[in-house]
Amino acid sequence: MTALKKYQISFNPAGKTVDVLAGTSILDAARLSGINISAVCGGKGSCGKCRVIINQGNVSPVSENEVTLISSENIEKGHRLACSAFPQSNLKVDIPEVSMTDEFKLQLEGENPSVDADSPVKSYEVKIKPPSLREPASDLARVSDELKAGFGITDPSVDIYALKKLPALLRKESSETMVFMRQNEIIGFLPAGSSPAGIAVDLGTTKVAAYLMDLKSGKVIASAGAVNPQTAYGDDVMSRLDYSINQKKKPDTPYRSLSEVIRDLINDMTGKLVEETGITGEHVADMCIAGNTAMIHLFLDLPVEQLAKSPYVAAVDTSIDVKAREAGINICPGAYIHFLPGIGGFVGGDHTAMIIGSGIDRKKHITLGVDIGTNTEIVLHNPVKGTCRALSCPSGPAFEGAHVSDGMRAAKGAIESVRLTDREVLCKTIGDAEPIGMCGSGIIDTLAELYRLGLINARGRFDRDNPRIKQGEFGSEFVISEGGSGNGRIVITQKDIAEIQLAKGAIRAGIESLMEADGIDVNDVSEVILAGAFGTYINLVSAVEIGLFPAFPNAGYNQVGNSAGTGVRMALLSGKERKRAEEIALKIKYLELTTHKSFNQRFARGMSFPLEKQVADSID
Ligand code: FES
Repeated sequence: MTALKKYQISFNPAGKTVDVLAGTSILDAARLSGINISAVCGGKGSCGKCRVIINQGNVSPVSENEVTLISSENIEKGHRLACSAFPQSNLKVDIPEVSMTDEFKLQLEGENPSVDADSPVKSYEVKIKPPSLREPASDLARVSDELKAGFGITDPSVDIYALKKLPALLRKESSETMVFMRQNEIIGFLPAGSSPAGIAVDLGTTKVAAYLMDLKSGKVIASAGAVNPQTAYGDDVMSRLDYSINQKKKPDTPYRSLSEVIRDLINDMTGKLVEETGITGEHVADMCIAGNTAMIHLFLDLPVEQLAKSPYVAAVDTSIDVKAREAGINICPGAYIHFLPGIGGFVGGDHTAMIIGSGIDRKKHITLGVDIGTNTEIVLHNPVKGTCRALSCPSGPAFEGAHVSDGMRAAKGAIESVRLTDREVLCKTIGDAEPIGMCGSGIIDTLAELYRLGLINARGRFDRDNPRIKQGEFGSEFVISEGGSGNGRIVITQKDIAEIQLAKGAIRAGIESLMEADGIDVNDVSEVILAGAFGTYINLVSAVEIGLFPAFPNAGYNQVGNSAGTGVRMALLSGKERKRAEEIALKIKYLELTTHKSFNQRFARGMSFPLEKQVADSID
């Protein structure tokens, strides 16, 4: 038997080198060395986002996919798709900034939680009598006696890992100790004077936000945001479920499970947050996580086969409490993680958190809440009828810049707003940097402007007779920027417009289906709440002009920021808010959009651009 050859691959500018067996793609080599290259399609060779440049060495011949996704000029320069190129010698590989998943505009802010801190975790300082030969009661018995005498707590149970810390603590520190309890269970013993902290996590498909909070005062002590490193395995939930299912079928192939990937990130973020604030991981006595159904399954390493195929059944969609250590999270020894309940299908605890955080469930008027992401969740709250319905639309990652030739996430150098005059294209980039691509808000502006100037028609087709529409290597295109510093031109193609049409068609169909199910129309809606980063940065006039949202003549728009982050912080701080989350999840009626009777018609109609000018003028 001949042994497979090994090659060494060095990545720049990451400065990492990895040895891999022949037959390992450059994408997998990058993953093995911990580099997150954007891989929207999960490595299927169809998204074109995993672009790398071969600087030195030989690789497999250019594949058909690469010919369709990379210009011949760039192929000449060594550009390849990391998922489709395999080493045939040692390699030096450059990763362009646009292919990295790190460093993009993360939105941590939402409204501050307006909730009284009443955490399920309490702390009790007790003075423990030293044992003697006459009274040799166990350490735990002496703690229990003091809890009873001082606080009336009877028969507490104790977490075994918390207990392991007690003997040394009682003999090292003073006779006073701090006992962290959750209901009647002792979950940690800490030095006297310690105050319990908690971490609220908004676990998004693309982004993760974590907030370290003081459980007594309810204050945020520190916060952090990061890209979900699972994006290197596919941008949408289906690609990740596929990856997870397929990898488990190949137990001999070295790979990191998606559960491990996200757990490592949460441990890493926890470590940085506590270090920043001078406490230890053991002070973190509670954690609350809100995520969509797929994210929670992957986090907990639950089976996902049944979730990936119709009728998309979750292993669990109620709230659950899991010992943090059993979920692989290193905080206080006996601490739990509380997962917020989901609503149905892929509408998970993050949407429940968004509803709590934005207070939609308490509105006295008809309110529509939209959280645009790879999956867009929409809720319609109608207090007049006492109804509340929610659904999820597969809007895909186009608004994150994926599936769009020069699309990118909202990172430095991304064009975030566009205005067209009769002759010029006026752009603004994030960080006022040299443009290197276009993020969602820039893409929507571009479409609105192209439509306003008649450069595309109501079906989204370019007016090819207009001299501003050029013929590029991949068909008709409109040039946004001629580029600079060797970054290349930035264009929007007919195919890109079609991608956005698919996304907007799904969202529009979702909104209309909810209104139809509730028996209302656009005139009845009083408020539209847009949550999440994209909903915050989007230009509302452009969004209405392209028909992403219907015009709501009587509605005010409210761009609330990361209200899922606000909601999960509220749930971390308060048992009452956890109960409210349960009630919301039980009350909301979940609508399965894809089987809804008029979905296909609405979807097709939603892909078009509005024929009459919408009431965009009413938006401030
Ligand atoms: Fe390589 Fe999509 S084309 S990951």
